[in-house]
Amino acid sequence: MLNVAILISGRGSNMEALVRATQKPGFPARIACVISNNPDAAGLAWAKENSIETAVLDHRPYGQDRQKYEQALDALLKNHGVQLVCLAGFMRLLTSWFTEEWRDRLVNIHPSLLPAFPGLHIHEKVIDYGARFSGCTVHFVRAEMDHGPIIAQAAVPVLGDDDAETLAARVLENEHKLYPQVLAWIAEGRVNVYQERTFITGVGAPESQMNPQETEK
Ligand code: GRF
Repeated sequence: MLNVAILISGRGSNMEALVRATQKPGFPARIACVISNNPDAAGLAWAKENSIETAVLDHRPYGQDRQKYEQALDALLKNHGVQLVCLAGFMRLLTSWFTEEWRDRLVNIHPSLLPAFPGLHIHEKVIDYGARFSGCTVHFVRAEMDHGPIIAQAAVPVLGDDDAETLAARVLENEHKLYPQVLAWIAEGRVNVYQERTFITGVGAPESQMNPQETEK
């Protein structure tokens, strides 16, 4: 059983999807705790109601000292025996100290097909740009925002009459399927990073099922 922490700042619908998946019999991971930097995050109440351990680590008392905050977060994660951290709408930028400490054990979900449309207000930007497809990406986290080896993506069409809200809803539906699927793959030990590319054994095209070192030319 892989011990997982979910970091949230708000609504927590991805957290909810991850928790529900881990509650299914035979799922290879468990949620050790849900941590929020925002004491008012709506997701915290849902987690508590569903008997998931929660913690609040408010960033405000730490002011500009990001590393002090991250050291406290790191200690909290280690105290809970966490082996994998899932960011799910966690609205804090993490420094390279933290992303290196948790290298390849820290994943994020982003509501676009990265590397297109990193950052905020993504759905507006996708529509304004006239992109025909959007989607979501689960990736390992590196210090650069919305950057790091891609584990999986799901694509959705952008329709002519979409606004940010309708597109967000279509993407979110896919986020809720993709993130638990990726969590299962990681917990089963099927996800490996080699030279900043991710390889998943037993899934997808034949070459992705090989040992990455064997596929190297
Ligand atoms: C999601 O769209 C996620 O991709 C992004 O932030 C949003 C969080 O939503 N990183 P929720 O809190 O999981 O409902």
